[in-house]
Amino acid sequence: MKTEILKILREAGDYVSGQELCGRFQVSRTAVWKVIQKLQEEGYEIEAVKNRGYRLTLVPDVVTEAELASRLKTTCMGRPFYVYEETDSTNAEAKRLAQEGAAHGTAVAANVQTGGKGRRGRTWSMEPDANIAMSLILKPNLRPENASMLTLVMALAAAQGILESTGVKAAIKWPNDLVVDGHKICGILTEMSTEIDYIHEIIVGIGINCNQTEFPEEIRETAGSLCQYAGQTVDRAAVMERILFWFEKYFAVFMETQDLSGLQEAYGAWLLNTGKEVRIVKQDRSFTGKALGIDVRGELLVELPDGTVTPVYAGEVSVRGLYGYV
Ligand code: BTN
Repeated sequence: MKTEILKILREAGDYVSGQELCGRFQVSRTAVWKVIQKLQEEGYEIEAVKNRGYRLTLVPDVVTEAELASRLKTTCMGRPFYVYEETDSTNAEAKRLAQEGAAHGTAVAANVQTGGKGRRGRTWSMEPDANIAMSLILKPNLRPENASMLTLVMALAAAQGILESTGVKAAIKWPNDLVVDGHKICGILTEMSTEIDYIHEIIVGIGINCNQTEFPEEIRETAGSLCQYAGQTVDRAAVMERILFWFEKYFAVFMETQDLSGLQEAYGAWLLNTGKEVRIVKQDRSFTGKALGIDVRGELLVELPDGTVTPVYAGEVSVRGLYGYV
């Protein structure tokens, strides 16, 4: 009932009478009042005016199941949505849930992540209650070699979702970092469990720096946070809702062809590498060239000094601008 009342108040944007709420849920006025009090304790500001009812006047930056469920506009992604106060890693948690039978589209988020995983075995740290750590469980009928493209689908959804919810225009640093003004604000980690030719599940995890302003020494130069560019506190649930909304749309487009042909142009419009000199670091060797864009498999097309164009597969390489992180 809490989720529904929150949703009704949010959508009404005006007073909703206590009587209407009682009728809707077939409960007493006291029961409705208890839910309102619970929401107020969580930080929601709700005016209660005699003869008019209840009006939601302020939504705090909270990541809770009720907050997410009352916002979601998707049919599959984020349904259900589990929120943990603390977990080791939302990707690990999502994997455990998936193996216990959680459905395609299930999402997991945490306010505190103690063992966040980054790409290539790195760690991903974040301040408690300030950022987004969210993972999606996907169980698509997809060939394993096509799964890594979902990272790019998520990058696209995140760029679009962040713009709509905060007004901040990030760029995609191929394949899956989001960058604002040369600072990384978001990373994506896709992991899957397969059996020969069959995918058990794919976990797409996304970490977004939202309201954190101090970073550890090692990443101080390269990391940034959405609030620094939005000029105000970022509402994490609003960002998550928009990302899931766009991910659901882009995922459907991706599944039609099982490649990025339907998303290549949109992705290209967000890509910061296009036309820039890049250094590709592949295990123990590196080379430079000009990035031209991505192909339908999400590989970066790099023009070498001799004019030939070579596709670079995201798996094991790191891309640098010639003069630093971007
Ligand atoms: C990167 O190295 O850029 C990828 C970082 C991915 C971090 C996110 S936070 C939510 C999810 N859970 C994890 O343990 N990692 C991902």
